Amino acid sequence: MKAPIRVAVTGAAGNIGYALLFRIASGSCFGDDQPVILQLLEIPPGMDALKGVVMELQDAAFPLVHGIEMSDDANVAFAAADAAFLVGSRPRSKDMDRADLIKVNGPIFTGQGKALNDNAKPTVKVLVVGNPCNTNALIACHSAPDIPNAQFHAMTRLDENRGKAQIANKLGVTAGSVKNLAIWGNHSNTMFPDFYHASVDGKGVIDQVGEAWGQGDFMQTVSTRGKAIILARGASSAASAASAAVDHMRSWWHGTADGEHTSMALWSNGEYGVPEGLIFSFPCTVKDGVASVVEGIAHNDYAASKIEATAAELIAERDAVADLLN
Ligand code: NAD
Ligand code: LMR
Repeated sequence: MKAPIRVAVTGAAGNIGYALLFRIASGSCFGDDQPVILQLLEIPPGMDALKGVVMELQDAAFPLVHGIEMSDDANVAFAAADAAFLVGSRPRSKDMDRADLIKVNGPIFTGQGKALNDNAKPTVKVLVVGNPCNTNALIACHSAPDIPNAQFHAMTRLDENRGKAQIANKLGVTAGSVKNLAIWGNHSNTMFPDFYHASVDGKGVIDQVGEAWGQGDFMQTVSTRGKAIILARGASSAASAASAAVDHMRSWWHGTADGEHTSMALWSNGEYGVPEGLIFSFPCTVKDGVASVVEGIAHNDYAASKIEATAAELIAERDAVADLLN
């Protein structure tokens, strides 16, 4: 039996937390031979609800769960953490863009970045889900000078999964047969889901769906899916977001398959002309727990202009939170 790992989840009593915790506890994320100790963070008004979630986790009798801790103190919740899901923050309402959340959510990530820095394992893998996730991850990263920048990711896997589902539906195949659909840039309407380099059963998607659909319905649907769900459900995506968070962390923890890459928003080192120091979504491979940006992808003028636009938006978001970046 492996030694248990410590997994911190913030916003654990929220909608995403409710779906995420049971997947982690079941072994879907870190493996069915990997015991976990769950370290759950809520704000004081969420603690009663969190007690109820913990009762349910206990009642599920997951063999891999070796402990559950609850706290409203990030220093406690992040103690010796091997992995952290930063979910806790406000979701947008139907009349907002994700970037509108930055003033209310951004400050959460200074305190949590510092608490990670001071308490988590130096090797901790941090996945930021709370929106606007790229810029929140940047804030957390700046607040944690002793943790390498590469250990802060933001989640664009949900956008990748949405894109794969759209392509699968269009071509009458299952989502699992759609490979290498990379999301570039920000988790926002400016993201670029690169249908040009995706494949289905080894064949290029673009030859099967056509450029007009790719640039039209596909781009529109994928980039505005979050808002469409809020309008339909009256609440932002939760189960699909939790599932994508599990997918992202599982890829990071266990690696990507040969010949396949996945979308991860991570610290830019200037790849593809993206300014250094943005948390930017790139196609990545993972080996031995280290994510690397895939090199050598050639973009046409359309794709290059989309990548430039989403980078410009992230620069503007970074400028807007300059006071939160140490
Ligand atoms: P929710 O309101 O249901 O739950 C959020 C929880 O976080 C609440 O229980 C709240 O008490 C808690 N919380 C608030 N501030 C906190 C803090 N400082 N520390 C710890 N906990 C705190 O919201 P949700 O539906 O779970 O969504 C959470 C976030 O995830 C939102 O910002 C949402 O926009 C974002 N989101 C991101 C993606 C993505 O693809 N990146 C997808 C879906 C949702
Ligand atoms: C999503 O993409 O579903 C989330 O980021 C929630 C939102 O505000 O769109």
